[in-house]
Amino acid sequence: MVTNYFENLLKRDTIFKAENTLDINYIPERLPHREKELSLLSQLFISLLTIPNSLSRKIIITGCMGIGKTATVKIFGNMLHTTAQKRGINIKYIHINCRKERTSYKVLINIIRQIQINFPKRGYSPQDLLEVILNTLQNKNLHILLVLDELNYLINKDDDLIYSLTRMYDDSYNCPQRISIIGIVRDLSCLNNLDSSTISTLQSNIIKFNTYSVEQIYDILKYRIKLSLKEDIINDDLLKMLSEITYDKGDLRYGLNVLWKACKIAESKYLSFLSTECLRLANQELIPYSIHNLLKYLKQEKLLFLLSIVISLKNTKNASISLSEILEQYHIVCENIRKIPKSYSQLWNYLNEFKKDGIISIELKSKNIQGRRSYIKILDISLIKLENLIHKILEKKGVIT
Ligand SMILES: Nc1ncnc2c1ncn2[C@@H]1O[C@H](COP(=O)(O)OP(=O)(O)OP(=O)(O)O)[C@@H](O)[C@H]1O
Ligand SMILES: [Mg+2]
Repeated sequence: MVTNYFENLLKRDTIFKAENTLDINYIPERLPHREKELSLLSQLFISLLTIPNSLSRKIIITGCMGIGKTATVKIFGNMLHTTAQKRGINIKYIHINCRKERTSYKVLINIIRQIQINFPKRGYSPQDLLEVILNTLQNKNLHILLVLDELNYLINKDDDLIYSLTRMYDDSYNCPQRISIIGIVRDLSCLNNLDSSTISTLQSNIIKFNTYSVEQIYDILKYRIKLSLKEDIINDDLLKMLSEITYDKGDLRYGLNVLWKACKIAESKYLSFLSTECLRLANQELIPYSIHNLLKYLKQEKLLFLLSIVISLKNTKNASISLSEILEQYHIVCENIRKIPKSYSQLWNYLNEFKKDGIISIELKSKNIQGRRSYIKILDISLIKLENLIHKILEKKGVIT
């Protein structure tokens, strides 16, 4: 008879109490060490509840990766919605990730879908769509808190929408104001690409989220462990070690992922608690979430070039490799899957983008008097893991089989 692996797993004792609460998209009820930010946001938006539709607030939230910006705003949005509902005030909270909805059109269609059902998708310009939204809000006597998360993805391409949204009520006097905006960006410098009047509107209210200290990370992880694991699964020393690992990466998602992975390793070894070895193995195995996410959304041409960099680096004993060697490998990769290689200048652009995203570093070394050569290095990530991940993504995209 075939072994029923599910039955076997279900019979086994688990160390999880609620495994789903370790998922990086899970929003916990509380956010230790973000109370101050939640309180500040509430103060800024209180007039939406006291004098509904009297003003349109526009706020920018900024701060490094994985420090609870999205989670805080999601909790805040829901808090605003439920408080308004209790008082019979019509406020809807709409959270849009601009990395996923990369154009004004997509953002606006997403908003419309959330406030009006059965809207025909085609045949409208962004300006038309904005008008439809404003009319619907007026007819339904509704105010929306629009969160544009990872707003930088929209700014680089398409700042018309941001311009329109920030100046929506400029021509009207004393009319109800129905859209408030929270924009979230890691780095404020992306705002510089906007026109100066939009910048000045947005810059008037900026909330900076500070990075967590190692002690704060310890508290947060302790809380997340209480939610997700049974009691006494992880001892205090190990929790401190996990906090240090997380602090080093500067991203709480990494800590949560390592914890989850370590628990899985412990279970596979039939342990009823976490050992240092489980944590160490998990830490070695994981690719930082930020890189994972970045690769997922990379164009296949760029992925193929990155794959060539990884393969070339794997094939050399040195820590860095020259661009010409990478190009050789790149041509082989392209030939194997019958793709036309990109031009040198395009590839050079890709390299600079990889550098900006923190995947590689480029070093210029003087070879001889005639010139300098670029040497490329991949930082801090296991090449084998990276290669596997790129392969998986390319397979999913149907580029390789
Ligand atoms: N204070 C906290 N308490 C509990 N969990 C937290 C806290 N801060 C962050 N987290 C968790 O850490 C993870 C990362 O947080 P979040 O997604 O909000 O980061 P972010 O600042 O939006 O990062 P990015 O700039 O990459 O989008 C989430 O799973 C979130 O639930
Ligand atoms: Mg976020």
